[in-house]
Amino acid sequence: MAGLARAQANIALVKYWGKRDAAANLPATGSLSLTLAGFSTRTRVEFEPAPGPDLVLLDGRPADAPTQARVQRFLDRVRARAGLSGRARVETRNTFPTAAGLASSASGFAALAGAAAQAAGLDLAPAELAALARLGSASAARSIYGGFVEMDLDGATRQLVPPEAWDVCMVVALTADSPKRVSSTDGMLQTAACSPYYPAWLASAPADLAAARAAVQAHDLAALGEVAEASCLKMHACALAARPGILYWNGVTVEVMRAVRSHRAAGLPVWFTIDAGPHVKALCAAADSARVAAVLAVVPGVFGTQVATPGPGLSLGGEDA
Ligand code: DP6
Repeated sequence: MAGLARAQANIALVKYWGKRDAAANLPATGSLSLTLAGFSTRTRVEFEPAPGPDLVLLDGRPADAPTQARVQRFLDRVRARAGLSGRARVETRNTFPTAAGLASSASGFAALAGAAAQAAGLDLAPAELAALARLGSASAARSIYGGFVEMDLDGATRQLVPPEAWDVCMVVALTADSPKRVSSTDGMLQTAACSPYYPAWLASAPADLAAARAAVQAHDLAALGEVAEASCLKMHACALAARPGILYWNGVTVEVMRAVRSHRAAGLPVWFTIDAGPHVKALCAAADSARVAAVLAVVPGVFGTQVATPGPGLSLGGEDA
């Protein structure tokens, strides 16, 4: 039987950075994210009776060796749980460029969890799908749900506010077209191992999470934006302080951050966040999104902007990938 699923990327406003249990892929900090409409991954999985290496096709092409191995490890867990032994055929398509370093692992492992569980005949509730997706990539657990989503230290994930309940937007400013050099997984392991700021990061994260949760529940954009910028800058400061330091930004990233702050000072309510790559995501009210996209598009070096509204969680079934 084939399984089909679609999931959207999510962007963390309070970041997960560090693992408290690498084998179970449990985060060392809670996190809070917004699932985005449009940045989606569609995945089809089929298990065959014959054993052998899994076939993994990304946008029609065989996956590179590390991705193939990561997907295979993930599918081994699904096979063990369902009592299957045959190889899988995985076809996955993204509606955004994976090479640009946008959050493809979140939508990717959420869609893979949904499609693989369905193909294996496992009937899993959303919380179980989130726990499964987390084993592939912790941020993927949040993409099981739409809108604003929180993940706690035990990996438990829940929706705080549904996508239609709050008119906010994320404007993505693309600042590079090459893949990121240090993956999130490697970057956070290196940070935990040797950044002297890591204990402070862990100690201060619960207060950020509580502030962001309260802001989301109150629909207070200024409070959410303020804590989102703080969490982002703290995560990057912590990574920069590792030995060797991990620098995800390029010069354009910094110019976009400065533009966000200067437009905010001039009265446009907008705040930035940045993940393990050079792109900037700007949080603003939906009514301001066209203006935010216009002012970020003219920052020298920005080669594209995309406006994303809050999006839905995982959907199962539908037409073929
Ligand atoms: C900066 O979920 O990609 O985007 O669990 O090792 O796959 P693994 O890491 P991943 O890390 C995401 C890091 C982040 C912040 C976040 O999404 O919370």
